[in-house]
Amino acid sequence: MSLSAEQLAALSARAYTHMQPWSAQAFAGTLEQPASLLVSEAGGFVLGQVVLDEAEILALATDPAEQRQGVGRRLLQTFEAAARARGAAMVFLEVAAANTPAQGFYAACGYTLSGCRKGYYRHADGSRDDALLMRRALT
Ligand SMILES: CC(C)(COP(=O)(O)OP(=O)(O)OC[C@H]1O[C@@H](n2cnc3c(N)ncnc32)[C@H](O)[C@@H]1OP(=O)(O)O)[C@@H](O)C(=O)NCCC(=O)NCCS
Repeated sequence: MSLSAEQLAALSARAYTHMQPWSAQAFAGTLEQPASLLVSEAGGFVLGQVVLDEAEILALATDPAEQRQGVGRRLLQTFEAAARARGAAMVFLEVAAANTPAQGFYAACGYTLSGCRKGYYRHADGSRDDALLMRRALT
């Protein structure tokens, strides 16, 4: 099942607590790109892109009512398999330093820390948060 841009925005508005959720317009714009890769079901999604041998996760969420039941891990594994099928050898992502639940999730899924972008995220109140870079080899 493929969620629409509106459904993705509604789900991320429920799930995102550490950063601004994407709007339906932002999802629609990304989905239009030929490099985009969406894996979704009613309770969650992984949206990313694959360019040459690199995949990037752009947004990912599980509905709060379905968290800690393996939905995120399963969707991420499906995303990784699809990215590998398109030629990706590595998956990259950025996660807010304050978002320790997501860091725990990615670490449990085999991702390791590879860098930090200071002050990368700007919040609505003007405060800033570092972005941690994580990656996982697919080979
Ligand atoms: C991160 C997120 C997608 C995880 O989804 P999920 O479906 O709950 O994850 P899973 O149930 O597949 O968890 C797999 C493993 O990841 C780890 N994990 C998941 N959530 C965790 C948390 N809140 N804290 C620490 N570890 C966590 C655990 O090891 C878990 O295995 P376990 O439940 O057997 O202990 C979900 O918490 C979410 O939607 N967060 C808000 C959106 C977000 O922050 N997205 C990332 C933006 S970069």
